[in-house]
Amino acid sequence: MRPGLVFALVCLSVFLLEFAECQKDANTKSKKQNAGRNVKLTNKKPKSKPRVKKVAGKKLARVSVMTQLLEQGRFQKPSDTLVIAAGKNLLLRCKGKHISWAYPSYLDEENDGRFSINHRERFSQLTVANSTGADTGEYSCWALDCDAETCRRDDSKTGSTYVFFTDPRELFVPANDYYMAIQLRTDRPTRLPCQVTNPLAKVSLHREYPPELIPVDGKLITFDVKKGFVIHKALPLFGGTLYCVASYQGLRQSSIKYLLIFTYYPSAPPAATIKASSSSVHAGVNFNLTCTVLGETNIEVDFTWEFPGQQLGRPTYTMEGQQSVYAGGSAVQSSQSVLLVDEARPVDEGLYTCTAQNQQGATSVSTRVNILPRTGPGRE
Ligand SMILES: *[C@@H]1O[C@H](CO)[C@@H](O)[C@H](O)[C@H]1NC(C)=O
Ligand SMILES: *[C@@H]1O[C@H](CO)[C@@H](O)[C@H](O)[C@H]1NC(C)=O
Repeated sequence: MRPGLVFALVCLSVFLLEFAECQKDANTKSKKQNAGRNVKLTNKKPKSKPRVKKVAGKKLARVSVMTQLLEQGRFQKPSDTLVIAAGKNLLLRCKGKHISWAYPSYLDEENDGRFSINHRERFSQLTVANSTGADTGEYSCWALDCDAETCRRDDSKTGSTYVFFTDPRELFVPANDYYMAIQLRTDRPTRLPCQVTNPLAKVSLHREYPPELIPVDGKLITFDVKKGFVIHKALPLFGGTLYCVASYQGLRQSSIKYLLIFTYYPSAPPAATIKASSSSVHAGVNFNLTCTVLGETNIEVDFTWEFPGQQLGRPTYTMEGQQSVYAGGSAVQSSQSVLLVDEARPVDEGLYTCTAQNQQGATSVSTRVNILPRTGPGRE
C-alpha cells in the first residue's frame, strides 16, 4: 500500500535520525534559551545578520518563512489551505540557509521529474509540476540552525500549507491498495485516512455489510477534510469493513475499504501488588505468594516470577486466574498469579519478584520471605 499520502513520514524520520542529537537538546531547553543560543551563534557570523533581527526581540516570534509563487510572478505567504487545479504547478520557497521539508511521502517515489527540491544560498525551493490529485497533502518547511557539526531545528522559522489538487475525475487521493487493515484500539483514536482532493466534496462514512450509513455526530466520530474520519472512542460496533463516499457536482466515488479490527488495548502498564501468605515461614511448611493486578477488563496480563530457589531448580507451581470484581461502582478485572512453594527450605529465603506485563509495559513488585527453623516436637 502507499502508506504515503499521509505526510512525509519517511522524510521526517530521516530528519529525526539525522538530527536526533539536536532534538534531544531542543527538548531539554526552553525555546527562549534556544533563541538566546541562536543569537549568539548568528552574531559570530556577519552574514546571518537579518536572522539576528528576527530572533533578537525579547519574545520569540514565529516567522513564516514560506512563500508561494503566484501566477502573476509574485511571491506571497500561502494561506493554511490552497486549492489548485490538478495539472497546474506548485512552487513553494522557504527562506533560510538550511531548510528541511515535509511533503506527501509518495512524492519520493515519483521519478518522472515532476517533483524537485532545490537548495540555494538563501532559500530552498520545492516544485510540483503537472500536479495530480495524488499530490494533495501537507507541505511544510522549517529552518535549521547549523554549526560545524550539528543542525538544530529552529521552531521560530517554519511554514506550512495544505494543498488540495482538485482533480475532476478523482475525488479521493488515490491509494495503492483496495484494502487497508486498521486496528481499532481502545486506548487511542482511530483514523480512516480517506483524504479528498477537493475540500468542497461531501464525504460520508459507510458500512459494507450490512450496508448502512454511519452517523458522524462530530463527537464520537469527526470528519476533517485534511485528515479523514476519526473515531474517538473505539467500540466493538465500529469494527468491520467501512469505506467513505465522496460526492461533488454529480460525481460520486467510493474510497478504498478499511477493515477495522477491534482490539482491547490497555491505557497503561499494569499496576501490580504482591502478598506472601506469610513473611516468615517455618521450614517444611507450604507457603505461597499472590501477585494481583486490578485493571481494565478484557486486557491480557502476563506474569513472570523471580525467586531465590529458581537457579537451584526448586519445584514451584503457579496458578493463574482472572475474575471481574466491582471497585468504586464499576467493573474491573482482577488478574492473579499465585506462586506455590511446597515444604519450605532454607534456600527459599529471599526476595520474590513478580513482573506483570501488558501491551503498554511491565511493572515489578517484590516481597521478602524469611525461613525459620522447623518447629514442633512431633516433627522431624
Ligand atoms: C508537464 O507536462 C507538459 C505537457 O504534457 C510536458 O511538456 C512537460 O515536460 C511536463 N513537465 C514535467 C516536469 O513533467
Ligand atoms: C496460600 O497459603 C495460604 C496460607 O497457607 C492458604 O490458606 C491458601 O489456600 C494458599 N493458596 C493457595 C492458592 O494454595
